[in-house]
Amino acid sequence: MNPALRDAAKEYLVRYGGDVFPNLFVEARGTVVRDDTGREILDFTSGQMCATIGHNHPAIVEAVHAAGTKAFHLFSGMIPEVVAELGQTLAQDWMPRGLSKSLFVNTGAESNEAALRMAKLHTGGYEVLAVGGSWHGVTGGTSSVSFASDRKGYGVPVPGVFVMPEPNAYRPYINAGSEEESALACLELGLKMFDMQSSGRPAAIIIEPIISAGGVLVPPRAYMQALRRAADERGMLLIFDEAQTAFGRIGHKTGAAFHGVTPDIMSVSKTLGGGLPLAGTITTPAIEDSVHRKGFNFYTSHVSDPLGAEVGLAVLRVIANEHLVERARTMGGYLRGRLEELQQRYEAIGDVRGEGLLLGVELVQDRESRKPNHELGGRTTRKCFDMGLSMNIRRRPERGSVWRIAPPLTVSTDEVDRAVAILDQALRESLDEMAVGRAA
Ligand SMILES: Cc1ncc(COP(=O)(O)O)c(C=O)c1O
Repeated sequence: MNPALRDAAKEYLVRYGGDVFPNLFVEARGTVVRDDTGREILDFTSGQMCATIGHNHPAIVEAVHAAGTKAFHLFSGMIPEVVAELGQTLAQDWMPRGLSKSLFVNTGAESNEAALRMAKLHTGGYEVLAVGGSWHGVTGGTSSVSFASDRKGYGVPVPGVFVMPEPNAYRPYINAGSEEESALACLELGLKMFDMQSSGRPAAIIIEPIISAGGVLVPPRAYMQALRRAADERGMLLIFDEAQTAFGRIGHKTGAAFHGVTPDIMSVSKTLGGGLPLAGTITTPAIEDSVHRKGFNFYTSHVSDPLGAEVGLAVLRVIANEHLVERARTMGGYLRGRLEELQQRYEAIGDVRGEGLLLGVELVQDRESRKPNHELGGRTTRKCFDMGLSMNIRRRPERGSVWRIAPPLTVSTDEVDRAVAILDQALRESLDEMAVGRAA
């Protein structure tokens, strides 16, 4: 460990929110990251949900090298061959039929900004409808349509944004009987409120196929189908933000395939770059043509960079060759089964949910009241880290305390078993300490 560098981190870096560990980190391979003390930690967040094929997969290292022998970056008006190849691969092998025109940028927020700009230009409108618990980025337009992030203190959001209640099967805003009926009731109310407030310039509905930062909420298929109809009826474009759901994470090629619903625009990012900055906005030829004619502009320094495209192609090849879409389903089933075993033993686990290897575990004070257990969430997450497991906790005061568990799709059974043993011990110890605290 180099204490001077820990001091430098404190002295010279801007703090940017979220939980930050006191340790510094030096290396990552597969499912394991190593900190500055040499300690190995199982990474059950896949970095920031990006390293779906495992950290520093040899194919990614090779792709970076290949780009180094050709070109990392070019004038934005020069389209690299490898970018054309990535566009073709996405259209032919990964996207739902009809989505065949790609724009390649760097981050999830950027790809959503591009999607929103396309929708506004295409429709001539500016009103955007989003759901509670969403996270689409921290840039101007995307933070305006995000409701799981901190909105306060940054001035006026982009005008024309509307929010509707998210479908939450465990904590439904409207309990209309079944999970599906409750979700549809939320949608009906949300649409009524939107129609009431709209000034007649609708542009887009934006949603994550699984609302991840909002607590790993899986909308029923009927909800997404109704959303598709709602967009069509209002002349709005439907945007799927598939930053986390595309390319296998949920055991399907995309969230669109999982729901059986094709959006007008799909944004992809984290899971395409596999840990390097790469994102895409994909739409239909008709929309691409329409916005091009209207002067669509998203000219940036790193649009169409060959480095990212080389890596993206490598990531997609690994997912296909190593059958990682199917693997997400089988390993996801295994991990979910192990979490459900824990649920049998701990009253504090109120719900286990998700798809494939994007899972959420909601912690409650008791199953009757379903009151969020933020203290347990905080304690267990810290303990897990001390015992060698890194895991994300979504802990907003306005909603539950949810572990978000999303290891690389290459995770082994042994790594899952080790992680579950750590979760078990962290829960037991935290609950014991909290009981002692209450008795004292
Ligand atoms: C669903 C979703 N969309 C967009 C983003 C923003 O992506 P980025 O942080 O790469 O800008 C995130 C980031 O967490 C996300 O989870």
